[in-house]
Amino acid sequence: MCGIIGYTGSDAAVPVLLDGLKHLEYRGYDSAGIAIQTDAGLTMIKTSGKVDNLAAKAAVTEGLEGVCGIGHTRWATHGTPNDINAHPHMSADGRFAIVHNGIIENYLELKKDLEKKGIVFASETDTEVIVQLLAYYYDGDVRRSLMRTIRRLEGSYAIAVLCAEDPGTVYAARMSSPLIVGLGSGENFFASDITALIQHTKDVIDLEDGETAEIRVSGVRIFDRYGAETKREPRHILWDIAAAEKGGYPHFMLKEIMEQPQALQATLEPRIKNGRIHLDEVELDMAKFNRILITACGSAYHAGCVGRLVIESLCRIPVEVEVASEFRYRNAVIDEKTLVIVISQSGETADTIAALKEGKEKGASTLAICNVVGSSIAKLADQVIYTWAGPEIAVATTKGYVTQLIVLDLFAVWAAEKLGRLDEKTYGKLVKEIRALPSKAQRALDLSSGVGRLAKSYHEKSSLFFIGRNLDYAVAMEGSLKLKEISYLHSEAYAAGELKHGTIALIEPGRLVVALCCCERLYEKTASNIEQVKARGADVLAVAPESNRKIYGEADHVLQVPDTADLFEPVIEIIPLQLLAYYVALENGCDIDKPKNLAKSVTVE
Ligand code: F6R
Repeated sequence: MCGIIGYTGSDAAVPVLLDGLKHLEYRGYDSAGIAIQTDAGLTMIKTSGKVDNLAAKAAVTEGLEGVCGIGHTRWATHGTPNDINAHPHMSADGRFAIVHNGIIENYLELKKDLEKKGIVFASETDTEVIVQLLAYYYDGDVRRSLMRTIRRLEGSYAIAVLCAEDPGTVYAARMSSPLIVGLGSGENFFASDITALIQHTKDVIDLEDGETAEIRVSGVRIFDRYGAETKREPRHILWDIAAAEKGGYPHFMLKEIMEQPQALQATLEPRIKNGRIHLDEVELDMAKFNRILITACGSAYHAGCVGRLVIESLCRIPVEVEVASEFRYRNAVIDEKTLVIVISQSGETADTIAALKEGKEKGASTLAICNVVGSSIAKLADQVIYTWAGPEIAVATTKGYVTQLIVLDLFAVWAAEKLGRLDEKTYGKLVKEIRALPSKAQRALDLSSGVGRLAKSYHEKSSLFFIGRNLDYAVAMEGSLKLKEISYLHSEAYAAGELKHGTIALIEPGRLVVALCCCERLYEKTASNIEQVKARGADVLAVAPESNRKIYGEADHVLQVPDTADLFEPVIEIIPLQLLAYYVALENGCDIDKPKNLAKSVTVE
């Protein structure tokens, strides 16, 4: 939810921290701050707003010279996003500064205790209790005091700490929030994720829950929850800085939309050999399961809605799909005959992690579909299938979502074959269809060149409907979410056949209805729903396969996509809708990569 960074080396810390924070800004962007070890002790600047505001403030602030510091970009949970609540927070005695990502659930109780001891708090945040407690426990040994402090914390945290009396050292601790150590040459780092460090180092160590660590110029030390030093081999990151930059596009979102053919290909390539699907990373006896439960949040949940229909159709196993925030508190009836599939781009979504734990506790086998190697979800699940989408920076997911879909498609065909539900001919045909998806995604992008023009006529619509049936409906949900989250237009996704049971009352002249018509077998049914809304004056924008000529007699505008087998059409059909959301948001002057009130990685409930 927030991004944190720590640096120690021989370069000026301020530019390193500001640059790292720029790359972490997708995680939260309502305020930002840095603290530096200087000759005069710890110096801190912070401000509401984005990292650019902080950079402007740093440029006119004197006394920030130093080679060791910490930084933070925030998505507020406790206290409004103002200058005071921005991180870092300093202990009342000025000895410690801290940045934190996560939530301290027992902060009120800890705060009351400390206030009784006469400690005066400056902010409304939960974070400040950590730094005040650390100062209270301080006995001359920072790490020992830090371990004592974190033992009192309930909740989640990734923290980085500076001590005025310990120049050149940054301390850190982690519990249920991501934190990596970056190993440089003559410099070392902490960060919430690799995008902040990739231009300095590709060698990282993922801290585990309960661990603390120290970085100095001379090296890195990691300690387990009992304080014993542990040794860990770093992992080497394969992608480079270009993947985390805009590469000439005005927004990350547009870049990531355009990268989808390559992301799909990268996800597919290692898994299809000689016309057969190989999920070498998965060891599952599919015959053991009598049902599958898919759980996730937001767009990943929408991917799950597609997955349900594809898996059920091919494997003939009952599949349920549920948002993780509901599933985790439902006390669902699941057992060792259930396969729980969690889907998460970031691998750090708090509700999805909780749902995964719930599934494990109840004895289910768990499989994660995840984009971030070493993330909490990837570590927790029994099995992981990675989506090789590369880093996704824009808050609104695009390539993350389509790669989740293609993994679900691969899994469905792989599992159906394992279960003996597919004859060779059908299996071969399905594999061929999946293999064609990356090039069809490219064709869908090529066919969508007119979306920008359409957005000009639609961007002022006040409320829209996305309708579709079956897989088209699952895609409608994602298309509607994309538009809402980045353009702030209200829209709703409806099962096309359900509209007439009430919501059709909202259809009036000029209302825009986006009708998804890629499920060939259901086209005639959706066409009659289009007629119903047209009869009430709606404008209809249809998304339909190139071969569908009839649609021109039904809809006002048509966005064409390449013809694709019904089961796999969501991968292609979403592409013009992502572009529609993008161009409408552009027309409306919205901050596309960082929509208001959102953050990329939702590590709170
Ligand atoms: C929407 C979006 C969110 C995420 C959701 C889950 O564009 O990005 O709805 O899909 O927050 O995130 P992950 O996949 O990281 O678990």
